[in-house]
Amino acid sequence: MTILTLENIHKTFKNGDVEEEILKGISLSLKQGEITALTGASGSGKSTLLTIAAGLQPPTSGHIYFESHDLAELKPDQIRHIRASQFGFVFQFAHLVPFLTVEEQLIFMLDVSDSKQNKQQRAAEIKRLLELVDMEHRRTAYPASLSGGEKQRIAIARAMVHQPTILFADEPTASLDSKRSKEVMTLMRNLTKELGITTLMVTHDQDTMAYADHMIEMKDGCLSQPV
Ligand SMILES: Nc1ncnc2c1ncn2[C@@H]1O[C@H](COP(=O)(O)OP(=O)(O)OP(=O)(O)O)[C@@H](O)[C@H]1O
Ligand SMILES: [Mg+2]
Repeated sequence: MTILTLENIHKTFKNGDVEEEILKGISLSLKQGEITALTGASGSGKSTLLTIAAGLQPPTSGHIYFESHDLAELKPDQIRHIRASQFGFVFQFAHLVPFLTVEEQLIFMLDVSDSKQNKQQRAAEIKRLLELVDMEHRRTAYPASLSGGEKQRIAIARAMVHQPTILFADEPTASLDSKRSKEVMTLMRNLTKELGITTLMVTHDQDTMAYADHMIEMKDGCLSQPV
């Protein structure tokens, strides 16, 4: 089942007097339970495309169909609501809050995501999230005492609050060594398959691509299948 469709996305940035077209009419669809890996040279527009797909910035023209909406036509408030309730984000660095424990990072996320849960439901949700990423044993640890892979697993747990429909990941393994990368990718793949999530992931890493169902490459503002 198709979850998100990008149709003829263009993006132009103005740097001084010069207008540069970074995305030149990109169309793409993401299917449920699948990981799509987006690759391409530095500066080719991967992060730009990911953030447009996630409603974090508008395209210059084109459509982003999600459920019965076109994100390109919605008001900022409506997009914010969809992002908070249906999209999860993971970036290159985990960006954990240094003075919060693992468990508190997740409580904080539940607090900001206007959840209506009572105390008991909240405790069950935290437990579910920690089990999901196999980090129950580090519940009371602070970020400084976690490995890079563990930090990234907590960032993934944080993205899984309210079980998102789509997980957007921008180079989630770029700061990790190959062993930790494999662990994080195995986790992302398991979550995608077991929970029926849809994942769009930007990556440079050949090993990481092996975990994807589809690979697409950004080249000269357009998409192609990598060779
Ligand atoms: N807000 C902006 N204003 C002006 N130019 C921008 C803006 N955002 C991105 N760009 C330009 O668009 C191009 C694509 O940037 P983008 O970050 O999407 O590349 P990328 O493929 O993710 O690169 P990397 O692999 O290095 O992360 C770059 O030339 C960048 O400078
Ligand atoms: Mg990028």
